[in-house]
Amino acid sequence: MLRSALVTLLGCCALLASACDGADQTEALEARIAELQTELEDRFTPGLHTLMVDLSTRHAALWFAGEARNWPLADYMVHELEELIEEIEELHPMYREVRVAELLREMTTPAIELLEAAVEEESRDDFRFAYDQLTTACNACHIATDRAAIVMQRPTVPPLTNLRFDP
Ligand code: HEC
Repeated sequence: MLRSALVTLLGCCALLASACDGADQTEALEARIAELQTELEDRFTPGLHTLMVDLSTRHAALWFAGEARNWPLADYMVHELEELIEEIEELHPMYREVRVAELLREMTTPAIELLEAAVEEESRDDFRFAYDQLTTACNACHIATDRAAIVMQRPTVPPLTNLRFDP
């Protein structure tokens, strides 16, 4: 009787131990999967600096499209700029202690609306004014994020020479 109880007890302990082992293994596996997921996300998420370089390419191309009065191309570039801004908001809502997402929206939206209106009106004067407003917004945010050394301006050379700006 005692012996069989002891055997049963030992059996229970073994079962419990293996269940615990199983739980430990599952936990370890889950932790590893989470680690790999973060690693993958980090590897495939473009950094803020990379997206900013993309943004500056669009910014420069937009200028030449507007100067050439190529309104469909300017319209395209404004939309690409907006999409990039949305992507930055989603991927990098914070930069150090700064809420980049909110700043981006607050600072760039008025200039982008002006740009859209200028493109729709096909007015180069309005376009130039709106463009400078956008550039001022870029620079204001660089100051706000302690990156005052990064100063944007009207470009002097097209960012791409294989893209035709003339309509
Ligand atoms: C929300 C604030 C904010 C706005 C608005 C903003 N930037 Fe930036 N930008 C930053 C920050 C922060 C960095 C530094 C990123 C880093 O250190 O990783 C940066 C970096 C850059 C860089 C340097 C990238 C590099 O590493 O070579 C360029 C170029 C740039 N921005 C262009 C622009 C242009 C063009 C605009 C406007 C169309 C703009 N930025 C608007 C915050 C902003």
